[in-house]
Amino acid sequence: MSTSETRKAYVVVLGNEKGGTGKSTAAMHIITNLLRQNYKVASIDVDARQGTLSRYVENRRLRAAKTGEDLALPEHEAIFKSSLPSVEEAEAEEKEKIFSAISRFQSYDYIVIDTPGSDSYLSRLAHSFADTLITPLNDSFIDLDMLVRVSADSLDILKPSTYSEMVWDQKKQRAIRDGGSIDWIVMRNRLSSIHSRNKEEMERVLSALAKRIGFRLISGFGERVIFRELFLSGLTLLDMRESNLPLSLSHVAAKQELANLMELIQLPSQNQRSRIA
Ligand SMILES: Nc1ncnc2c1ncn2[C@@H]1O[C@H](COP(=O)(O)OP(=O)(O)O)[C@@H](O)[C@H]1O
Ligand SMILES: [Mg+2]
Repeated sequence: MSTSETRKAYVVVLGNEKGGTGKSTAAMHIITNLLRQNYKVASIDVDARQGTLSRYVENRRLRAAKTGEDLALPEHEAIFKSSLPSVEEAEAEEKEKIFSAISRFQSYDYIVIDTPGSDSYLSRLAHSFADTLITPLNDSFIDLDMLVRVSADSLDILKPSTYSEMVWDQKKQRAIRDGGSIDWIVMRNRLSSIHSRNKEEMERVLSALAKRIGFRLISGFGERVIFRELFLSGLTLLDMRESNLPLSLSHVAAKQELANLMELIQLPSQNQRSRIA
């Protein structure tokens, strides 16, 4: 068997149990970054009902068809929740769908999976395939509550929340299935450029929590209008120059944030993985 046939696709999952924290936005930017490095990328939308990533990819496909721009696309699959009435049958169907998508994409370099902002069997299962799990989090104690309960007065960590416990369970599932481990990264998103007490307190609690429940804490994107604007065109920050969109200082800073993010998440490069295989 050749190396490419034995090589396993590296799986990146974007997840947390809260909506609106930047999972789909980060997924699309990570996907285009990898595509631009000429990697073969597959994407799976487990949040098919909301379908943000699926529509982002579709908008990109439509734009490329319309303008003739050379916009690299991932091979995309949306997985919907089963509509079968019995829980067992529904779970079996969802399990089959996700296993077959993952195995269909095994010859790809990376599989990027976007998950819904709510707990479900499908989302939990998707988490268990992660080599890297990225959890975007807004700088707000409402978002933090998804990871951990803190005391209102002292901000002491009281106990991990259900999402953290779920990630622990999926780490175990992953270890049982193939002996693999999950690199869990919490990415602060929509960071404000101004200094605030809230920002400082979040930093302190998250740093303490990182050690306690086992994730790496990184700074992601700043709060920038450009992350909201590109969806309809299917473009990301990385396509702006080729698409002749005007680049402002804020866009340049945002591109730098994406470059930093890719460096910090430390996905293994294809060469490194070929050497391991
Ligand atoms: N860094 C950012 N700056 C500004 N807006 C952002 C940023 N990240 C995400 N958004 C916006 O926040 C909303 C939620 O983002 P989305 O990626 O759909 O989150 P999720 O997938 O977690 O529900 C969207 O309107 C998106 O455009
Ligand atoms: Mg989403």
